[in-house]
Amino acid sequence: MNQPQPAHTTHTAGRTRVLTGAKPTADLHVGNYFGAIRPAVEASHDTNKEVILMCVDWHGLTDKAKMLEPGKQTSGLLATYLTMGFSLEKNMCIVQSEIPQILEIAWYLSCVSAVGLLERAHAFKDAVANGKEPTAGLFNYPILMAADIVTFDAQVVPVGKDQAQHLEYASDMVRYFNNAVGHPVLFEPKPQIQETPLLIGTDGERKMSKSYGNHLPLFAPKKEIEKRCKEIKTDSKGLDDPKDPESCAVFQILKSFGSEDSVVYMEERLRKGTGYGYGHAKKDLFDEHERVFGSKREQYEHYLNSPREVAQLLTPCHERARHVAATVRQRVRDALGLGIL
Ligand code: ADP
Ligand code: TRP
Repeated sequence: MNQPQPAHTTHTAGRTRVLTGAKPTADLHVGNYFGAIRPAVEASHDTNKEVILMCVDWHGLTDKAKMLEPGKQTSGLLATYLTMGFSLEKNMCIVQSEIPQILEIAWYLSCVSAVGLLERAHAFKDAVANGKEPTAGLFNYPILMAADIVTFDAQVVPVGKDQAQHLEYASDMVRYFNNAVGHPVLFEPKPQIQETPLLIGTDGERKMSKSYGNHLPLFAPKKEIEKRCKEIKTDSKGLDDPKDPESCAVFQILKSFGSEDSVVYMEERLRKGTGYGYGHAKKDLFDEHERVFGSKREQYEHYLNSPREVAQLLTPCHERARHVAATVRQRVRDALGLGIL
């Protein structure tokens, strides 16, 4: 049941504050576009929403073997969102490590969270089950994520199914905290679990993921994209056989980013079969990829190689975000009766 919300908010009148986090990782692919990038870009153009898109570089540090990755990959993530049209006008695209208040609030949340709760977190349990030696960073991952959310009074948090437990934890922590101080200080976020199925990879078997190497990248060189399209596994139906689009990975991948026209075109031809083989479908997929992403390759590379320009573009977002974070931090400190200055 929803509990009472704080009397003071940082919300913008008439707009729902939506917060989403993206880890800076290498090689963003069509699966990421379909599941995370496109929904955030679309939401940023919805005038009823105020979107905070956070590049969660601190979360990326929880794997000790890859500690230098977040620092390297952040520019690629930001360049991708900017290139694909995330609107900065009334939204915020920010980098987590630029907002120190998040860590302070994470501390307060850690002081109301039981160790047992964190021990039951899927990611932590998996690490232990796989014989890894989890760091305290990984253990505390759910606290940091809850802090991302409450530091910005987020109302709605869209995530994939794999993140549902983290959002339950965030709600739990809000309740523990509000109970501990005796009145509502933090907003309880509403999870928005995406029901869209995961996009299939080029192997036609597993979900598209860079860890399986079955991904179709967004901005790789043209030759590589072409090669990846040609590699997509299909069944052995011949040129003139009718084919089932639903079980065809080429078609499924096209559907995740292609225009309606391109989707209808391929669907009709596959079903009919005559004179339209998988080779044709792969060529059409490649052409559509070039139209949607290839045409923006230069823009992407420009952002990637212009860190000053990107920093300048994102400075106003960070200023607004810091203002919100400072207001919430003060509200929390007041509730705890902390501080002397
Ligand atoms: P990868 O599996 O390639 O490492 P990540 O786990 O870094 O990808 O994914 C980042 C986000 O991209 C996920 O939270 C999810 O929203 C989205 N995503 C990743 N793979 C897919 C997929 N195959 N289909 C739909 N969305 C995906
Ligand atoms: N844990 C999320 C993931 O792996 C990323 C994340 C961090 C996040 N902080 C967040 C998502 C806040 C939504 C809101 O995908």
